[in-house]
Amino acid sequence: MLQIKNPKFEISVMNKSQYPKNRMPQIVLAGKSNVGKSSFVNCLINRKSLARTSSEPGKTRQINFYNMDDIFYFVDLPGYGYSKMSKAEQQKLGPAIETFLKNSKNINLIILLVDIRHKPSENDKMMMEFIKSTGNRYIVVTSKADKIAKTKVQSYVDDIAKELDVAEDLIFAFSSETKFNKELISDVIAESLLTAKTWDEE
Ligand code: GTP
Ligand code: MG
Repeated sequence: MLQIKNPKFEISVMNKSQYPKNRMPQIVLAGKSNVGKSSFVNCLINRKSLARTSSEPGKTRQINFYNMDDIFYFVDLPGYGYSKMSKAEQQKLGPAIETFLKNSKNINLIILLVDIRHKPSENDKMMMEFIKSTGNRYIVVTSKADKIAKTKVQSYVDDIAKELDVAEDLIFAFSSETKFNKELISDVIAESLLTAKTWDEE
């Protein structure tokens, strides 16, 4: 169980030079624009709007660090695949995400969110491959599970697992509306923090 007493927004960054210099473990949220990354953070910490959300895709445009009781960060990444963003901005997002995932030394777990209702896009598949290539631990969360019938959730999850080539114990259905699987995913995060890289390990 994650019990966060005092979750705080700490910093929004774009470039490597701006990443926090401390060694707190990072739980990173990745996924397409509008998939529910910021809502996921808010749901897990029981806050309505610490992480900013919107029904308009492209709300999160920088890499946002949320400090959880000085124990770990939730790192809310900008969504990829947002077509309405200006060309210049789109061109910056992909590399900023990749640079972060490649270079941050304190990533403890990467959570890739995909919408349970849709077959993973080419971008989702590319992101999954990229995440695997970084060698970090990861899980996949299929968001918006409230949007489909309960009896169908498992088969949708199974299909997505197959498409992304993810082991079944690494994929979880989730809804920030109904809080479905909130406790289970909190436990997975808490567990990953128990085995965070120690501070002297490089
Ligand atoms: P970007 O910042 O653009 O990358 O988007 P995001 O991935 O952070 O998505 P955000 O959390 O802002 O949510 C986008 C929209 O989806 C909002 O209107 C949310 O209310 C809605 N949403 C998020 N999670 C869920 C969910 O579990 N169920 C339902 N029904 N809606 C959700
Ligand atoms: Mg967001």
